[in-house]
Amino acid sequence: EGFLPFEHEPYFAFGQPEVAERQRVAYREVREKYVGQSFPLHIGGRAVAGEGTFEVRNPADTREVVWRFPRATPAQLEEAIRCAGEGYQEWRFSDPLQRATIFKRAAELLRARRMEFNAVMGLENGKNWAEADGEVAECVDHFEVFARETLKWAQGKAVYPMQGEHVTTIYEPIGVVAVISPWNFPAAIPLGMSLGAIAAGNTVVWKPASETPLSSLLLVELLFEAGLPRNVIQFLTGTDEVLGDPLVDHKDIRMIAFTGSKEIGCRIMERAAKVQPGQRWLKKVMAEMGGKDPTVVCADGDVEAAAVGIVQAAFGYAGQKCSACSRVIAEESVYDALLERVVTLARELKVGSPEENAALGPVIHAGSAERIMGYVENGKKTARLVLGGERADAGEAEGGYIAPTIFADVDPRDPLFQEEIFGPVLSFTKARDWRHAIELANDSEYGLTAAFYSRDPEKIAAARRLMHVGNLYVNRKCTGALSGTHAFGGYGMSGTNAKVGGPDYLFWFLQTKTVAQKY
Ligand code: NAD
Ligand code: ALA
Repeated sequence: EGFLPFEHEPYFAFGQPEVAERQRVAYREVREKYVGQSFPLHIGGRAVAGEGTFEVRNPADTREVVWRFPRATPAQLEEAIRCAGEGYQEWRFSDPLQRATIFKRAAELLRARRMEFNAVMGLENGKNWAEADGEVAECVDHFEVFARETLKWAQGKAVYPMQGEHVTTIYEPIGVVAVISPWNFPAAIPLGMSLGAIAAGNTVVWKPASETPLSSLLLVELLFEAGLPRNVIQFLTGTDEVLGDPLVDHKDIRMIAFTGSKEIGCRIMERAAKVQPGQRWLKKVMAEMGGKDPTVVCADGDVEAAAVGIVQAAFGYAGQKCSACSRVIAEESVYDALLERVVTLARELKVGSPEENAALGPVIHAGSAERIMGYVENGKKTARLVLGGERADAGEAEGGYIAPTIFADVDPRDPLFQEEIFGPVLSFTKARDWRHAIELANDSEYGLTAAFYSRDPEKIAAARRLMHVGNLYVNRKCTGALSGTHAFGGYGMSGTNAKVGGPDYLFWFLQTKTVAQKY
């Protein structure tokens, strides 16, 4: 293919003072360059205003409005879908090698600006340096991976031959794809879905979460700078009233690529099933949803390694990842030692501002903090609180700071065990033996990620066979999937198992044409 072998983008070593200083400088520059600004929509290659704007606030101190974005109107939604349809008529026939070249160029442009992108993300969704860096590095990986995938799928696939006919199987794009994304991965998630669409030859209406639009917009503008024709992506921000149901329902939308909550994912699935007047296809829906991800620790497992992995996966980004560990299920003989070690490590986590790179930052907003505290207060009545259970002191700052919270002896029927809390709240449940631990791990409507700690080949083989998840990690933590390597997406109510970053992802955005030609 002419590319160098793929390598994951290495992370910054913030432990080195000069690297940390570069991140601080980037924060200062981002504050000077962007804070207080209003940003545009992009429709049909033009940057335009909407009808009024909304504020984006810094979760680290919600009194600070960092920037403003437009509220798109229903007419602008209509116009964006029309422009995406027009753009599709050219982009569908674009040369895959040129698509790949644009993605490679975008990777280079982003490599040079990673610190800036980290700072923007920190200011709008509260990720600390390493969490933001992990996500921005994933964006570089996405560009590199999709450059290769676009060429791979352009080749079609071989079929069993027959006498007298030349038969080809090729993959063609499908049309206009609506990309709808959450605030917790405001760059890598919409980028993965959009690149999937674009690499396959489709055009996109990109609707980011309202909490975190700049992390998305900067990527759209970066793609334009890298040479992407400007009518290939339409970028719309605004209210769910205008850009939610009406976007999903629109007759000219061919596919909805969604990542977010179970509630909205199910709603989209249902609404997209209805064929609208004038609609000439069945809509495709990709809906990647929540998780209630377990870590199983067997009696023979490495308790220290498990404790470190659990704390990183449960409290990294304040537990606001679909992949976050929220349940620990341990065999009786290691339960107490593991609990004690996890509590010790979690107690050391410093709560504070992501801009200052504190280990544990705020949750996204006040409403989220209240919802999480509701689970915590309820948990105090039903389980044994062993750490936290209260709001954390973050000095002057006003934000959703919650102390790392751990409950022990949680009953599998408890909401703490069954419901996605999406905050720094972890529950421990004791298993009779390792088989029971796997049963408990599977006792969930979700099935996104899981970690399994054991060195026993029989137990590991059973876990590989029986764990009902899309991403199983053996002897490592359950967060941190890497594009191109750990195809990501879950089972059950975690969604459609789309597997972003995996070898079959582009198939979601394609249709297959068979041509049999007689000699
Ligand atoms: P959310 O479902 O509230 O919002 C997601 C997006 O949907 C936002 O852009 C929102 O504006 C939009 N939306 C709202 N109403 C809509 C409607 N009626 N029609 C169409 N779109 C609509 O989710 P969130 O709070 O932003 O994100 C957190 C959730 O995302 C968690 O449940 C988390 O587990 C999940 N998530 C899943 C994955 C995964 O890969 N499986 C990754 C990250 C986050
Ligand atoms: N892809 C993210 C992770 O694996 C959600 O943690």
